[in-house]
Amino acid sequence: MAKLNLYNEQRFDVRPQLFGSFLEHMGTVIYTGIYEPSHPSATPEGFRGDVLKLVRALGVKTLRYPGGNYTSSYHWEDTVGSQATRPKRMNIAWQSLETNQFGLDEFFQWIQQANVDNPILTVNLGTRGIDDALHELEYVNGKYDTDWANLRRQNGHAEPYGVKYWCLGNELDGPWQVARKTPEEYGLLANETSKAMKLMDPDIETILVGSSTPRLDTYPSWDFKVLMEAYDNVDYIAMHNYVDRDQSENLDQQALRDSDDLPTYLARSREFDKQIGEVATIADAVKALKHSDKTMKISFDEWNVHHFSQKKPQPWEEHNPVDWCYFDLADTLLFGSMALAILRHGDRVKLSCQALLVNTIPLILTDEGGNAWANPTYYVLQSILDNLSDTSTVVASSLTDSQNYSTKRYQDVPVIDQVVMDTGSAYVVFAVNRGKQVQTISMALPATIKSGHMEHIVGELGDKNTREHPETLTLQPCDDLTVEVGSKAQTAALSGYSWSVLTFDY
Ligand code: AHR
Repeated sequence: MAKLNLYNEQRFDVRPQLFGSFLEHMGTVIYTGIYEPSHPSATPEGFRGDVLKLVRALGVKTLRYPGGNYTSSYHWEDTVGSQATRPKRMNIAWQSLETNQFGLDEFFQWIQQANVDNPILTVNLGTRGIDDALHELEYVNGKYDTDWANLRRQNGHAEPYGVKYWCLGNELDGPWQVARKTPEEYGLLANETSKAMKLMDPDIETILVGSSTPRLDTYPSWDFKVLMEAYDNVDYIAMHNYVDRDQSENLDQQALRDSDDLPTYLARSREFDKQIGEVATIADAVKALKHSDKTMKISFDEWNVHHFSQKKPQPWEEHNPVDWCYFDLADTLLFGSMALAILRHGDRVKLSCQALLVNTIPLILTDEGGNAWANPTYYVLQSILDNLSDTSTVVASSLTDSQNYSTKRYQDVPVIDQVVMDTGSAYVVFAVNRGKQVQTISMALPATIKSGHMEHIVGELGDKNTREHPETLTLQPCDDLTVEVGSKAQTAALSGYSWSVLTFDY
């Protein structure tokens, strides 16, 4: 039987903003995803009420907006003021038509209704630069009697929005990016932009573009070079990573490759552990070279399991590309392990955004004029967010006498992937069972445990939540945990191929 050991004195704080999500002007994320004025559930502002309900129930507190690749050529000022006079534009990042009916001010109204309190905004450092970033910051956060702040007031929003987190562009290392830059060009631009933005508003924190994926040849030298240029003036380095089982991970190329076998696929969260370690090491090397006292935080602001849509995109239509997709149980287990990798490194990763919230590799799916429902990955994230608060800490843990497996690509992969959290009133064990067999674990917990319960996501590996059967995979109560009050050892059985959440109240 596997034994889970806790090291109670080794712990770090984790806060709700560690697990955010992402809204981008692409596909049907915004239009018919969160905004659809003709939908039966629409609010007076045109927001889908059914989606808002699911987002509130998810409990997500952090949201990145408005992209993504979209931001490298967008003009934020097209998106404010009277909707009737907003210009329609070509969204060249996604080759679609952008009506700008949902823009900055709608976003702030929407997050208020969604109970999201940490927006992350991305400025355009592709086709634009410092001036434009300053104007946007003044519109959003400006307190004084100045032109851009007054435009916000004129548009009906008297109070500054007080946005703390700002991304200095997006994926500017990527060959697909509009106005891609060399690391030296980008590092200098980002440094000067961040410096100027902080002169305007010293309360903000800025996020430097790191490598778009560890699969680019420029990884991790890009990270080193941009940090060398901008270390002193930024607060986070960004990380992105999407894992696709059988297609090129480059979102631009829908090329097929040999599909990962299941054990390899379920182990690919190891790339997250490795990448976080490498980016932290690079950042610490720059810290030493610069004799700095500041430790660079990591913002893992795009991560997910990835699938391309089965539908062929039709360029220059509204809502292009159509990239709505289902995740099955295998995807959900990998997603769970990816989330555990982030949680395990929560001492260094301080922000993360699962990408994206609605319709594009989504947590929530919608039909235009129809229903909204959740992919099973939604329930994984919800179960973590439910336990994050201002008192939560991750407690160091290890597994002994447990099973490992090896594949061509990975050696010694633990069948059980786990992280333990202390919420302040309970120990919570999050676990993925990557194997087919039930795994019994005994846990060395304090003798003060009063009660406990367990929930899990289980099913067939190919199960999905479809519009006809939207709740095939959800978090279900499970009886395989009996709490021995007063005992120091508790035992639970983790079903084969499962995501489990074990809660021990003390
Ligand atoms: O998530 C979709 C896209 O993936 C984002 O626009 C981009 O930043 C990344 O390549």
